[in-house]
Amino acid sequence: MNGPAPAKAADTSAVDQRIAELLGRMTLAEKVGQMSQVNADFPDAPARLGDAIREGRIGSVINQVDPGVVNALQRIAVEESRLGIPLLVGRDVIHGFRTTMPIPLGQAASFNPEIVRQGARVAALEAAAAGVNWTFAPMIDIARDPRWGRIAESLGEDPCLASRLGVAMVEGFQGEDLAAQGAIAACAKHFAGYGACESGRDYATTNIPENELRNVHLAPFRAAVDAGVATLMTSFSDLNGVPGTANRFLLRQVLRAEWNFRGFVVSDWDSIRQLAVHGLTAGDADSAHEAATAGVDMDMAGGVYAAQLPGLVGEGRVGIDVIDAAVANILRIKFRLGLFDSPYVEGDRIPLVPVEERARIARQAALQSVVLLKNAAGVLPLARADVKSLAVVGPLADDPYEQLGTWIFDGDPGRSVTGLQGIRDLLGEDVKIRHVRAMETTRSRSTDGFDEAVDAARVSDAVIAFLGEESILSGEAHSRADIGLPGAQAELVGRLRETGKPVIAVIMAGRPLTLTDVIDDLDAVLFAWHPGTMGGAALADLLFGVESPSGKLPVTFPRAVGQVPIYYNRKNTGKPSTPESLVLIDDIPVRPGQTSIGNTAYHLDAGDRPLFPFGFGLSYASFEYAGLRLGTHELRIGDAMSVRVDVTNRGGMAADEVVQLYVRDLVGNVTRPVRELKGFRRIRLDPGQTGTVEFVLHSDELAFFGRDNTLIVEPGEFHLWVGGSSEADLRATFRLVEVSGG
Ligand code: NOJ
Repeated sequence: MNGPAPAKAADTSAVDQRIAELLGRMTLAEKVGQMSQVNADFPDAPARLGDAIREGRIGSVINQVDPGVVNALQRIAVEESRLGIPLLVGRDVIHGFRTTMPIPLGQAASFNPEIVRQGARVAALEAAAAGVNWTFAPMIDIARDPRWGRIAESLGEDPCLASRLGVAMVEGFQGEDLAAQGAIAACAKHFAGYGACESGRDYATTNIPENELRNVHLAPFRAAVDAGVATLMTSFSDLNGVPGTANRFLLRQVLRAEWNFRGFVVSDWDSIRQLAVHGLTAGDADSAHEAATAGVDMDMAGGVYAAQLPGLVGEGRVGIDVIDAAVANILRIKFRLGLFDSPYVEGDRIPLVPVEERARIARQAALQSVVLLKNAAGVLPLARADVKSLAVVGPLADDPYEQLGTWIFDGDPGRSVTGLQGIRDLLGEDVKIRHVRAMETTRSRSTDGFDEAVDAARVSDAVIAFLGEESILSGEAHSRADIGLPGAQAELVGRLRETGKPVIAVIMAGRPLTLTDVIDDLDAVLFAWHPGTMGGAALADLLFGVESPSGKLPVTFPRAVGQVPIYYNRKNTGKPSTPESLVLIDDIPVRPGQTSIGNTAYHLDAGDRPLFPFGFGLSYASFEYAGLRLGTHELRIGDAMSVRVDVTNRGGMAADEVVQLYVRDLVGNVTRPVRELKGFRRIRLDPGQTGTVEFVLHSDELAFFGRDNTLIVEPGEFHLWVGGSSEADLRATFRLVEVSGG
């Protein structure tokens, strides 16, 4: 039960022979060394870690990005250690390296795998030039709770979107050949269920029934494994009583036995030692035993494997077969990366794309990630001819650092184009711009700067308020219980509203915010997430109609935090709400007779609707959907069918639209979601132009894990919708049928 997964036929490859040969020559200490990653975040790392590397006690370092230092460390490993095994050099390259792309949640709003892939490619090239050969991304935890700070790092709430974009990131980092110059190993994390932490509190417990785990949370990991992701990272969190770092069900049964994963698994930082803190083990020896036998191949920065595994093997508590399997998994990735042949970073051999091209990709990613949430009376785009003066206010209008978002260890704020800068660059001298920061940070409670902002607004044609959350309010260990605009920002909005001038908000944040209390005071809202290096340039283009917004929400925006978790692909319940069944708190008569008959599932004080649904996003164009047609109304199991729709741009400017396809399986062996995204396509249409979008839907995409947690495809009736959000109403129906005589 504790042993490694059975060896697979492919083990006969040349690489596996070299691995076997190396293993045959390694001492136990050298094997445990390969399973140990250490922090190298100091300039004198070669001096401090040199002896340990020379003795084969370190297989990987983390957090060193000076190529000279990396090469010095690598030289010790390759030229001075007995077996010359090169080091893996890991770093959190989450949404860019020097050039920062929008935060992953923002990238998800682009619904564009190609731009996500390009962004990861840019990041890989820049990071590789610094000596990094392994990143800890993508984070593909399904995130249905905006209180969770790490939702910023996620690809949103939907398994289909997170799977496709996660795969795009893996492809961008790893390229077609992991051994090519500029490719780096990716790491799908955090395995598994981390996003479901109780009340969105980072690191907190998760309880996820196996059926939901398989149908929702594991889906993106399966996709990443199938796409060839080199590594996986375990989750800090406790899953159904067993933390991810000791979870044999996940690591042995699902990952190795069912999915045939051939890469390696790394713990999260110190998460092996933390098994004792969880209360799963009595101390480090037991923790190392649990993690190693569960299938964690490498200890990230914890030192527990190094200290405990030799003794555990000596006592016979951990079999040498467990150790050998882990080391083989790690060596396999070192071979795949070509590190044995080309261990050193030589910046000039990396096919770095020109800096202008990197900026162009970052700008395009930002452009496509911004979501237009509101545009009353078509206030946007601002007409350059009409606007002679602008008040640009708010704590995030001109802050090159804060627009970069969380996890930007290597991001360079010096390259940022802020919103203010972007507007100035676009408008030149023609427009009088009055810039007032008004608040020191997004959290400031002081209203001292408000009068100046109001004065600027009064004498300007329009106000653009850059609001939101500064970077540090989201990300790891930065969860919030109240997800409204922090500090005195709502009050600032109120004061600006009183001026009578059009108030346009650009909101930068690492999560959905409850905008319920400010939305009515704003004429327009562009939700920009943390848009990265080129955010300001993209925003200027959007504000002034050089381009139309085209981002769509990758996660539901609640009205009130009490609705959380709220997500579009929920179950129907036995008492689903209808518009007629909603009686809100103010409409309840005094002391009515109490009855549950006819009552439905909603909140008395928030209703049943989010503020903005998944997939939603406005455009300066308007798109008409018509002519939905299915290749067949009887899809045979094992077959695919085409789904076509005509989309016409009825607006006055060329724009992108993200066309989305949803289905509902009406009757299931387990209850099925009310809608599920099955496809999406970004298209560009000129004014008056009609485009036909075709999806190919295979019956495999309608499979789900049933009552016994095996994957099944059930015959039956389906509804299908195509449109511009999860509330699309253009509907067709079809039946999934057994192949007759099959
Ligand atoms: C802890 C985080 O949970 C993980 O995502 C990250 O990759 C590691 N630290 C390394 O920095």
